[in-house]
Amino acid sequence: MCGIVAAVADRNIVPVLLEGLRKLEYRGYDSAGLALINELGLQRLRAVGRVAELTAQVDETGAAGNTGIAHTRWATHGVPSERNAHPHISDGLAVVHNGIIENHEALRTRLKADGYEFTSDTDTEVIAHLIAHELKTTGDFFTAVRASIAQLQGAYAIAVLREVEPDRVIVAREGSPLLLGLTDEGNYAASDASALLQVTRRMVYLDNGDCAELLRGSYRITRVDGTPVERAETESQLSADSVELGQYRHYMQKEIFEQPVALSNTLELIGAARSIQPGLLGADAEVTLKDVRQILIIACGTSYHAGLVARYWLEAIAGISCSVEVASEYRYRDSVPDPQTLVVTISQSGETADTLAALHHAKAQGMMRTLAICNVPESSLVRETALRFITRAGPEIGVASTKAFTTQLAALYLLTLVLAKLRGRLTAEHESAELTALRHLPVAVAKVLELEPQIKEWAGHFAMKQHALFLGRGRHYPIAMEGALKLKEISYIHAEAYAAGELKHGPLALVDKEMPVIAVAPNDTLIEKLKSNLQEVRARGGELYVFADADSEMQESDGVHVLHLPEHYGALSALLHVVPLQLLSYHVALVRGTDVDKPRNLAKSVTVE
Ligand code: G6P
Repeated sequence: MCGIVAAVADRNIVPVLLEGLRKLEYRGYDSAGLALINELGLQRLRAVGRVAELTAQVDETGAAGNTGIAHTRWATHGVPSERNAHPHISDGLAVVHNGIIENHEALRTRLKADGYEFTSDTDTEVIAHLIAHELKTTGDFFTAVRASIAQLQGAYAIAVLREVEPDRVIVAREGSPLLLGLTDEGNYAASDASALLQVTRRMVYLDNGDCAELLRGSYRITRVDGTPVERAETESQLSADSVELGQYRHYMQKEIFEQPVALSNTLELIGAARSIQPGLLGADAEVTLKDVRQILIIACGTSYHAGLVARYWLEAIAGISCSVEVASEYRYRDSVPDPQTLVVTISQSGETADTLAALHHAKAQGMMRTLAICNVPESSLVRETALRFITRAGPEIGVASTKAFTTQLAALYLLTLVLAKLRGRLTAEHESAELTALRHLPVAVAKVLELEPQIKEWAGHFAMKQHALFLGRGRHYPIAMEGALKLKEISYIHAEAYAAGELKHGPLALVDKEMPVIAVAPNDTLIEKLKSNLQEVRARGGELYVFADADSEMQESDGVHVLHLPEHYGALSALLHVVPLQLLSYHVALVRGTDVDKPRNLAKSVTVE
């Protein structure tokens, strides 16, 4: 997703802008650009591709200046190209923008009627023209920016500069992140702190609805209506190296606890949105998805489990038929290709050999509508698909995938909602309820993490066991599969997952007092059926460990241990229910003393077949 860096200082700020953009590369982008004010007036450089291409242009031109704004663009409206790259210019002012302006079409029509000429396909260019237009009446730059953003609907963080006011940068945010960095020689702004650690640790985080004016020796913050506000200055504690362990014992533990932040980063674009936009999946998403007939999801390991959960969502909510395949199987199978299928590849690394080969296989059969859901924007998978959604889990070091999985689920839920909307199955009321539920998700996950002490206690019961059975129904069956995978990966206990309804067809024969049975049991439509399955286990002496939720009426009794998750979360409950299973495996592995982050025989990124 787009990244912003802005600066006004008593020094040449171009190296700071470029280094800042490099630090924001992890957000995912397809083009980059900057605008400076210097002796040439307003100078703009833009390049498709990497920040390195932009750096080469800077080296070639010797571009320098004391005031500038810079941007990495992740295309949503308009293909990745130089003409669509930011900054966008209107009448001597330049704008960079992160987010999506939902009412850009109406604004564009109005501005065109007023005589403004558009040179790009972006929603951002309307902001540039709008500010230029407002300047004509207000005469003041800061006032004109505020008057303009008052007319915007959607999510944005922007930075604007103006040729005739060389020592002034205006920034604003609503939904998309933006913070200020303060130094004695000038002031800066960026999408996240990592971009500014090179010059300062003194940060001021802007709230939604804040606008700020940056001068070399001062800054001021107001609300959109001009009311002045104070925001606290903080000393950033962020490590320059985001993969340090910090207070945690293992990366897996750290990554489990990073899930609320990973989810809010992944869902950043819907932060202030009033609607779900296909552009979330890339500039061409609407066209690509419009007449899709079915979905084929291809992935491996944990990513495959994310796909299995998504099948329940896609069919029930979007009403589209979906199949999910292990990549290593699909690539060698004689299947029946349908060019109107959307092929969705899911991968944390984007480098898994089987997933890449499966994608090639699908494309070779004429299935060109492809989407990658991936955590690494630079990866091969992302480069080879038509559409992409970059999860923003941050680097995942532990071999057993945790935060990558939950962010994949969040991405797949967004895909489901986009398709439901395009297919006319999402009422405005439903859409707004879904957005509310998604926005609350990080908090809901944080509350589940508070159950760690109880889960730790349970872990002691498993440590000496050789086998474990995981049960779930519906969309929680793949969650049971993921729980079993986590346990076997890092504790080396043999674990198997079953759809609870299948119990009587075999696994019940294994149940005795030595076989702990873990049940994923949120209060959904299948709860009564699941309760009967659990009775069958208890009647054979099996010890039950039940992960219920606030609404389930499951009671503790002899041999039945119940833990209630704090909230019932409807369709998204799969996302909450995997968290205690991750914690359980982690604590069982700790008791057993295994190498949690690097389990024997396994690799993080499987780049060979
Ligand atoms: C390996 C990792 C798993 C991961 C799987 C798929 O097996 O150990 O954690 O789920 O590969 O990886 P991907 O990067 O494609 O999601």
